[in-house]
Amino acid sequence: VYKEIFQNKLPFPPDKAPKTSYFNETTKQWIDYYEIEIKEFEQTVYKGLKPAKLVGYDGISPGPTFRMEKDREAVVRFVNQAPMDISVHLHGSYSRAPFDGWAEDVTKKGQYKDYYYPNHQNARTLWYHDHAVHHTAENAYFGQAGFYILHDPAEDALGLPSGPVYDLPLALSAKQYNSDGTLFSPAQETTSLYGDVIHVNGQPWPFHNVEPRKYRLRFLDTAISRAFKLTFEDGTKKVPFHVIAADAGLLTKPVQSDTLEIAMAERWEIVIDFSAYAGKNITVKNSRDVQADEDYNSTDKVMRFVVGKDVSSQANNGPLPPSLRTVKFPPKKDTVDRHFKFERSGGQWVVNGVSFADVNNRILAKPARGAVEVWELENSSGGWSHPVHIHLVDFQVLSRTGGKRSVLPYEREALKDVVLLGTGETVRVIARYAPWDGVYMFHCHNLIHEDHDMMAAFNVTSLAD
Ligand code: C2O
Ligand code: CU
Repeated sequence: VYKEIFQNKLPFPPDKAPKTSYFNETTKQWIDYYEIEIKEFEQTVYKGLKPAKLVGYDGISPGPTFRMEKDREAVVRFVNQAPMDISVHLHGSYSRAPFDGWAEDVTKKGQYKDYYYPNHQNARTLWYHDHAVHHTAENAYFGQAGFYILHDPAEDALGLPSGPVYDLPLALSAKQYNSDGTLFSPAQETTSLYGDVIHVNGQPWPFHNVEPRKYRLRFLDTAISRAFKLTFEDGTKKVPFHVIAADAGLLTKPVQSDTLEIAMAERWEIVIDFSAYAGKNITVKNSRDVQADEDYNSTDKVMRFVVGKDVSSQANNGPLPPSLRTVKFPPKKDTVDRHFKFERSGGQWVVNGVSFADVNNRILAKPARGAVEVWELENSSGGWSHPVHIHLVDFQVLSRTGGKRSVLPYEREALKDVVLLGTGETVRVIARYAPWDGVYMFHCHNLIHEDHDMMAAFNVTSLAD
């Protein structure tokens, strides 16, 4: 049992600085060059017990945070100093296929690969994480995940809480430890590893001192199997907040809520106002899958904000703008172009009966480049849920049927790249399959399902087929 709940400070990974920058005379654009080393390190979570052995980007977890400006391209060299094979996916980027972290495009120990990231999309919270074939769950769980935050001038002009003090990246994860303090491995799991120790930015159940004013909180769920339903509580009262952004950036407008559902790989950003809570504690609680796994005495808690008495800056503390941006939703369509069933069959997780290991059949779609398609994603696996991620595109969630939930109010205003198929749910998503040709993955982001082998591919092509 972890004895220091809300006693340790919330850590923040350091920002990553480029090694050098080049000006491209042809495109008149800057390219920043970075280097990341994938390295082993240790973290003592239970005082007096053995440390957990981890592997992270630059030897930390979460990895260093990239802070990028729209239209400043980047090349990142990932140098693998760790024993396992790795592949890096920048989740949320329309990277060209060779730089998208294709699962079999592995970099071995002692090798490096240079990834090119265009950064021409609108402002959004992305993340980079491992995607190595059949080992993504272990590699992400043992530390290979980090933030990559893209800014743009339109978002900067909105006056939202900003800067390192008022705009906070919060990476959620959930793990399980052995009684000697080492980390329990998900390597032998074939269904799920929820994890009963909830971490934020790598620290179990931390606290963070805040001022009684507005904050922007960027939530990311890096857990391999745990989705959350978050509330912010003052005693037992729920504190309302505004959801302002999703996977692919700002919503059309702020959406008020008192609950935030976040599944694996999703990003949801909120603005919360602590001004009425000076001198109080606001506890972030979870009410989803509280009794999964064994030692679940604290899976209903996430972290705590300790609200101080003084505000040191009133900058960007005003009312939220009534609209945030004009989101470029794809043109409406009522027909369904493709139907995919996410199910369990023969001890495997499959998409339309196909697993990723089935190399001759795993390309399940060939959208023409630029085509707008509606994909119907059906969860026909019984009691399980599946957060489905489609690489390359930003999609709009059109409908959710078959279960208890419909499209959530804040999902309606968003472009996304992951959507949760809850138990029995069928979800329709619409996207434009662009801007590049190439073979891209789509899969369940319960990383244990992904590894066993609920992943398939689509080939965006400009040729008629
Ligand atoms: Cu976040 Cu295919 O991954
Ligand atoms: Cu799944």
